Amino acid sequence: MNKLEAYPTLSRLYDLQLEVFPAHEDFLKRRFENSSDEHIGEVAQLAEIVERIAGYNLRVIAEDYAWLTDRMLEEEYHFRRTGKYRLSTFEEAERTVYADPVFMQKYMNGVLLSHLWWGNHSRVIVYFRRQFLPLIREGGSHLEVGPGHGLLLYLAAQSQAGSVTGWDVSETSLKNTRNALQAMGVEKPIALEAHNIVNAPSQKFDSLTFSEVLEHLEEPLEALKILRSLLNEGGKIFVHAPVNSPAPDHIYLFEDPEAIIDMVEQAGFKIEKTECFPGMDAPIDRARKLKLTISTIVVGTAI
Ligand SMILES: C[S@@+](CC[C@H](N)C(=O)[O-])C[C@H]1O[C@@H](n2cnc3c(N)ncnc32)[C@H](O)[C@@H]1O
Repeated sequence: MNKLEAYPTLSRLYDLQLEVFPAHEDFLKRRFENSSDEHIGEVAQLAEIVERIAGYNLRVIAEDYAWLTDRMLEEEYHFRRTGKYRLSTFEEAERTVYADPVFMQKYMNGVLLSHLWWGNHSRVIVYFRRQFLPLIREGGSHLEVGPGHGLLLYLAAQSQAGSVTGWDVSETSLKNTRNALQAMGVEKPIALEAHNIVNAPSQKFDSLTFSEVLEHLEEPLEALKILRSLLNEGGKIFVHAPVNSPAPDHIYLFEDPEAIIDMVEQAGFKIEKTECFPGMDAPIDRARKLKLTISTIVVGTAI
């Protein structure tokens, strides 16, 4: 594709993706035709990281992305017919997704590549780098709950944080995060531990990432209160959760961005900034009207 020519890694990944998933051509063409040159440059930087994390598995990861889009389509059909997510309990999500190493590996591989191919996902990462990471305390301790593929924890490790910790309920996710940090040569102190956020140990951190986990929980407000208790006063939190976003392990339906923002505030955070990125880069009014996915970001301070 012409617009990508200046970026050899991104061009290579684009060509590989279409080789294993030719039916995605219209979607990917439109995604980049509608993106500014500046944004394509930002995605090209992410492509360098994704390629290094993927290593020899790049082709498998591109195939797993194609597999993920099929799973998402099935969930979308259910959502459009019923107005609800298919699953409603954590037990079902754990049994069918987090504790199934084969499903979970494909899922995390697909989500990793979605950060290049889905405009809302790449814009969340750009926002995280530009707007949140500079707020992290110099030399401070940073926690991510639910790091999954490890991309955001790697970026936090690149910031001025002194140490990074990842807690995830899935052993497969912890393995992926470990591999990502190793592949990227992170040298800072790292702790990766299996924990469900609802039974988190009582530790204290200076900053926290909680990205695409809130909608996986039966009682998201309770989880946010636990996150508040994990942060030192004045600590910063980055919450990213999607509204109207059916997926194989989403159980809590947020119907508009305000529902997420209000919940973060109710849990004891001062809201510093919010941002919305609709799926397929749709205009926000259209996304609200048609109940399309809207990636919602809330940056808060523990008060
Ligand atoms: C969709 S992935 C998000 C990965 C990454 N944070 C991102 O934004 O792309 C969700 C991750 O949250 C983890 N997770 C789900 N429920 C959890 C819980 N109750 N406690 C801790 N981790 C959880 C899953 O195992 C998975 O690794």
